[in-house]
Amino acid sequence: MAVRKLKDGIYSVGAIDWDRRLFDELIPLPDGTSYNAYIVKGEEKTALLDTVDPVKKDELIGNLKSLKVEKIDYIIAHHAEQDHSGAIPDILSLYPEAKVVTNSKCRGFLMDLLHIPEDKFIVVNDGDTLSLGGRTLKFIFTPWVHWPETMVTYLTPDNILFTCDFFGSHYASSDLFVKDKEKVLEDAKRYYAEIMMPFRFQIRKNLEKIKDLKIEVIAPSHGLVYDEPELIIDAYKGWISDEVKNIVLIPYVSMHGSTLRMVNYLIDALIKRGIEVKPFNLTKTDIGELAMALVDAATIVVGTPTVLAGPHPSIVYATYLVGVLRPKTKFISIIGSFGWGGKTVDTLKGLIPTLKAEIIEPLLIKGDPDEEDFNLIGEFADKILLAHKKIGLL
Ligand code: FEO
Repeated sequence: MAVRKLKDGIYSVGAIDWDRRLFDELIPLPDGTSYNAYIVKGEEKTALLDTVDPVKKDELIGNLKSLKVEKIDYIIAHHAEQDHSGAIPDILSLYPEAKVVTNSKCRGFLMDLLHIPEDKFIVVNDGDTLSLGGRTLKFIFTPWVHWPETMVTYLTPDNILFTCDFFGSHYASSDLFVKDKEKVLEDAKRYYAEIMMPFRFQIRKNLEKIKDLKIEVIAPSHGLVYDEPELIIDAYKGWISDEVKNIVLIPYVSMHGSTLRMVNYLIDALIKRGIEVKPFNLTKTDIGELAMALVDAATIVVGTPTVLAGPHPSIVYATYLVGVLRPKTKFISIIGSFGWGGKTVDTLKGLIPTLKAEIIEPLLIKGDPDEEDFNLIGEFADKILLAHKKIGLL
């Protein structure tokens, strides 16, 4: 990625990863990603804010050379995860006078993960400032976005908030600033769902912490830079709120069509009752789409056949994922077909111990659904309707 200028003395020097399609060997990246790093030059000192994933270290180093950065005084480490910190050892080799500026928790992680010697660090506390001459960095601790050590930097007098993962999106683009707002918000919502959603309440506290800052630009370390910060701040306020939408999410698998027929009947029954439905056939769905839909759906109904004595393994995976992502879903249930019994309901309930959702009585039927079973699915849809009315969605 070429060096891009945010404004005089402030440059984006990171790398775009156009081809990356999986993060943490788990999260699909349909639009690639970027590892944004920033050079901030003061009258006396120069700081590098975050680095890049080690696979892209040569691009970062090339950018620093093309920008003719002869001296780096401070490397600001907002977060120890290697996609931002992994090139710190290489930068320290090239710029041996540089010090890594971070909080004590992050220092510990960086020493563990990257074997950076303790004397290379300057440890800061929440609210501490560091002058570059004419420009000042203020460090604000924002824990659990999405590791315990995460922090952001507020730069004055430019009023730029450098947020690392917070407000980021996995989006490879040759643009520096947001142009297509709809597209950026879609990617940011996916990112929030996959990475930040389990920490909704901590994010609430962090938003409160930055609410009085005069922010002109938000510069995350993934995706595009926001020159209208309220775009992403307002989106986050909605995602972390307790409000859910009149939506039923149906992740399902069907082996021989019985569960599919139940799911299809339920879809029609819910639509007739004025409820939006988002079905996800787990043999085709990318889990990021499922995660994104979890952000504001009121209800999840899992559709599974019985395999051996329990749920289909793909459903086990998806249900476990729901449990760890901890969405604000209000109601949850199960439908499906079985041949000769099993422990589907108990197994799935055991996967979501942290989900604070009310359980609607599951509906499991024997074999292929008949007329009587379809009537039961209609009654099941009525229960969902009632539940949505109870919380004012209809
Ligand atoms: Fe982009 Fe948590 O690293």
